[in-house]
Amino acid sequence: MQRGKSQELSRRDFVKGAATAAAVVSSFPFVARGAAADRPLRVGLVGCGGRGSGAAHDVLAAAPKVQIIALADVFKDRLDSCRAGLKDKAHMEVPEKNCFVGFDAYKKLVAMDEVDYVILATPPYYRPAQLTACIDAGKHVFMEKPVAVDPVGIRRIIAAGEKAASKNLSIVAGTQRRHQKSYIETIRRIQDGAIGDLVGGQVYWNGGALWYRKREAGWADMDWMIRDWVNWCWLSGDHIVEQHVHNIDVWNWAFGKPPESVVAMGSRLRRKTGDQFDNFAADFTYPGDVHVMSMCRQINGCDSNVSERIIGQKGISNCNGFISTVGKIEVDSPHPYVQEHADLIQAIRTGKPVNEARQVAESTLCAIMARTSAYTGKPVTWEEIMKSDEEFGPPDYELTEENVRAHVPVPGTVQG
Ligand SMILES: NC(=O)c1ccc[n+]([C@@H]2O[C@H](COP(=O)([O-])OP(=O)(O)OC[C@H]3O[C@@H](n4cnc5c(N)ncnc54)[C@H](O)[C@@H]3O)[C@@H](O)[C@H]2O)c1
Repeated sequence: MQRGKSQELSRRDFVKGAATAAAVVSSFPFVARGAAADRPLRVGLVGCGGRGSGAAHDVLAAAPKVQIIALADVFKDRLDSCRAGLKDKAHMEVPEKNCFVGFDAYKKLVAMDEVDYVILATPPYYRPAQLTACIDAGKHVFMEKPVAVDPVGIRRIIAAGEKAASKNLSIVAGTQRRHQKSYIETIRRIQDGAIGDLVGGQVYWNGGALWYRKREAGWADMDWMIRDWVNWCWLSGDHIVEQHVHNIDVWNWAFGKPPESVVAMGSRLRRKTGDQFDNFAADFTYPGDVHVMSMCRQINGCDSNVSERIIGQKGISNCNGFISTVGKIEVDSPHPYVQEHADLIQAIRTGKPVNEARQVAESTLCAIMARTSAYTGKPVTWEEIMKSDEEFGPPDYELTEENVRAHVPVPGTVQG
């Protein structure tokens, strides 16, 4: 099936990508040793790029007695620059023997008994295999959002989350807002009835284009796409999944349930690199015929708005410190990048596991379902997307500009 011609939810014209992670030794290093707060928590980072390098410093800032002891990345230059940053800014030297490079680097890192806690900050396509490997190996995990790019990946995340629960392992996801006190307090009050029953709302991530990498001499297709991943659907899920998931997640959180269906549209107007759209609009229907309008755009020179809005029978809220029936809610909100790790460390050290796998999987799937509707021009239900066997992987065609353009979905038929 050619991408773009589909009116179905079935598999797209992609080959399967990375193989399922092999199960590795199952052990519970940190928990088994009594979750002792007096011994250092030893962290391994998989994906040493922008966010991963940032997260390495965030986890060190989140609590005392934390060490980064291992690094893994598909590219040596990315790993080296993260390692150098840790040495310069945090005076933390990661031994050479604990630095792994290549596609199987993550397997070597999770096989290390000394690692208690793994940060997953690779492109979202790789998350299901990498989370599964971590949980099989008995590691606690901080994983960046989104957590998959297709429904098959989502089901693997949910399964890994259930396995983690059975092993008392903790998983925190990088949704930011769920660990930001101004959001937590506002959503708590909304759920306690501050604006009555929820009747509708809007969520937005309208902003400029993200970065891109031009292909350099000597780079294979895979090297280029991974370095330019935010522009390739099979790696990022498209920007509605990669970026707008933050806002969709807030609605799911407040409402307590995912939507029943979605009708969405979108197109590619200004984007030059990769194969993604640069704008989407979606109308999600939640139980009780509650409609939530979503918009996301990555086009320079247009209006910007990153926010959420919830309408209840008795009032409205911006979800982040304001409720019309209450007024401004003043709370001290430490940066969620650090707070996410502080919450995960606390769960590990107190032996009270936290597990965010299902909630972030569901929010990611909402974005996937809207993307599918926009690509096909058809409504998509939650039931359909949950069962869908759609599975992405690297393009199986030659990456010429013409070929890539021909594979960008165009919904509907030509007039006349
Ligand atoms: N929560 C947030 O606010 C936030 C902000 C930025 C990025 N992110 C998320 O963080 C993740 C990483 O984004 P980024 O901006 O750091 O991208 P990046 O390209 O800067 O970093 C990704 C790193 O992963 C490495 N990598 C790619 N495939 C790999 C593989 N199979 N195994 C090991 N390493 C691999 C790359 O070489 C690179 O170093 C994405 O999921 C992104 O959506 C979240």
